Amino acid sequence: MSDLNLMDTDTVRAAVRERYATAATTSGSCCGPSASSCCGEAAPADPTSGTVYYSSEELTGLAEEVATFSLGCGNPIAFAQPQPGETVLDLGSGGGLDCFIAARAVGSTGHVIGVDMTPAMLTRARDAAARMAVVNAEFRQGFIENLPVETDSVDLIISNCVINLSTDKDAVFREALRVLKPGGRLVVSDMVTTGNLPADVKRDLELWAGCIAGALPESEYLAKMAAAGFERVEALARSSDSDDGELGGLYSLKVRAFKPQ
Ligand SMILES: C[S@@+](CC[C@H](N)C(=O)[O-])C[C@H]1O[C@@H](n2cnc3c(N)ncnc32)[C@H](O)[C@@H]1O
Repeated sequence: MSDLNLMDTDTVRAAVRERYATAATTSGSCCGPSASSCCGEAAPADPTSGTVYYSSEELTGLAEEVATFSLGCGNPIAFAQPQPGETVLDLGSGGGLDCFIAARAVGSTGHVIGVDMTPAMLTRARDAAARMAVVNAEFRQGFIENLPVETDSVDLIISNCVINLSTDKDAVFREALRVLKPGGRLVVSDMVTTGNLPADVKRDLELWAGCIAGALPESEYLAKMAAAGFERVEALARSSDSDDGELGGLYSLKVRAFKPQ
């Protein structure tokens, strides 16, 4: 059963897929005519702030339609520090921005896998990979609750503003643990809350797709990671611009956890 108990998984997935299919085929916005970000803020260049996002160094050399297409709520790469030779998995890879930055970091001996359920997003990311001649990143269709990825095969999992969109976060963290190698790490940027969201918000499909209705209180989110079997679960940073409580004190959290050796 869904961890929010209010919404059917297929209904939420359909709304989320529709929203992100539209985003994938329009100019890089899904919140308004000029916004570049869907779930979070636009993207100034200060990855250490804990709020946002990508440095000019990270974006240099990427195709413009990749560099300007972030629907995330932070920069998990800045916290994850992918190393040469590592295998990296991105949960909900969207247009592929984080995958392409990771692909450069892991180099020719490393490999990056993006998983996304929305065909239009996969097409966008695969087309970009071909245009930029990136050969160490691939994009697979699948659900983050049931990953199309081998057990014990990944060094690092990243995810940017996606797990909040899942109605079964326990399954997401279980699957993440399964595919990580022993000692592997999970580094996530995601929306969480300080308090409980009202029931009418949790039932609103627009707010689900907008990364609000599925956000859990931070303590519950971290407890689910630990319950799945992760150790050293640590909140690394929080955005400072949480709303004033109207939406349960919504903010972006950066968190890291490890699979036991
Ligand atoms: C807010 S966007 C973030 C995309 C990307 N991580 C970024 O930072 O730009 C959410 C993405 O997650 C995908 N997604 C949402 N729920 C998913 C699920 N249950 N399984 C797989 N992909 C999912 C959507 O298709 C969409 O591409």
